[in-house]
Amino acid sequence: MTESHKNKIVVVGAGNVGEAIAYTLMVRKQANDIVLVDLNEDRAKGAALDIAQGTSFFKQVWVRKGGYEECADAQLIVITAGIARKPGQTRLDLAKTNVSIVRSITRSIMEHAKNPLILVVSNPADVTTAAVTEESGLPAGRVIGSGTSLDTARFRYFISEALKVNIEDVNAYILGEHGDSQVPVWSAANIGGVPIDEYAAQVGVNLDKAAISKRTKEGGAEVIQMKGATFYGIAMAVSNIVERIMKDESAILPVAHVLGEEFGSWAGVAISMPCIVSWDGVEKTLELPMTEEEKEAMELSVKTLKEFQENVIV
Ligand code: LAC
Repeated sequence: MTESHKNKIVVVGAGNVGEAIAYTLMVRKQANDIVLVDLNEDRAKGAALDIAQGTSFFKQVWVRKGGYEECADAQLIVITAGIARKPGQTRLDLAKTNVSIVRSITRSIMEHAKNPLILVVSNPADVTTAAVTEESGLPAGRVIGSGTSLDTARFRYFISEALKVNIEDVNAYILGEHGDSQVPVWSAANIGGVPIDEYAAQVGVNLDKAAISKRTKEGGAEVIQMKGATFYGIAMAVSNIVERIMKDESAILPVAHVLGEEFGSWAGVAISMPCIVSWDGVEKTLELPMTEEEKEAMELSVKTLKEFQENVIV
């Protein structure tokens, strides 16, 4: 691996989520150097070694344990560290503890990296994204939160399951909070360009939108109730975001970042909107046409996050 062609991604946090992300990035060869950083050095070393030992089955990717000095020349830094929620907890219940953890991690990153691109996964992912943005002093577009990318994937999955259609033809967004106030934007949903209500009528399916919206919102809790944690879904969501960044694709993704002044009273809140994502991070935030009811739901989501971000990020 020559220094000039190093394609390095640092994953901070070698717990279930960080390990699953490192594994997915390796299997999809989304970097040629993946470094796991964790306060528990044995955990980072063991997770890296467990993946590295399988390298010969895939492509040459170096997966190893490292320290924050590895952030100096990393193309991307993924923050996954923090406590995970337990059954019955909301993501916002984790806010105080995980904001403190990601602030400390951000300070360590900024000691070594001049202008890093940071992807924040630690829950509550919107509040921690705001905290990392503030702590780092980076432009908002260089601190991306995984936001409702996984919620949107769940939404598309449950729609594709109900309509028995290829998920790649399901265009639908969950926006707002990666949490209970998320907004299913049904009015913009279409199947291969056919508005979803028209498509459901044409294929003779009575689509239970309320049930799909509920199952999507509770998607994480449903898995946690059964297996104790989620990590593969979020790892795939992160891998998709990484792919668009590392290949400079200018792709439109539902991710979180701190909104700019052009968003008026929403400015300063980290929340998921459709964003154009490329090598440099968020290029542009898009406004999706919505019904009045959806707009009200977005206002509630912004209000929820604004209160948390103002109270917790002090
Ligand atoms: C979930 C975690 C990533 O929704 O918040 O599974």
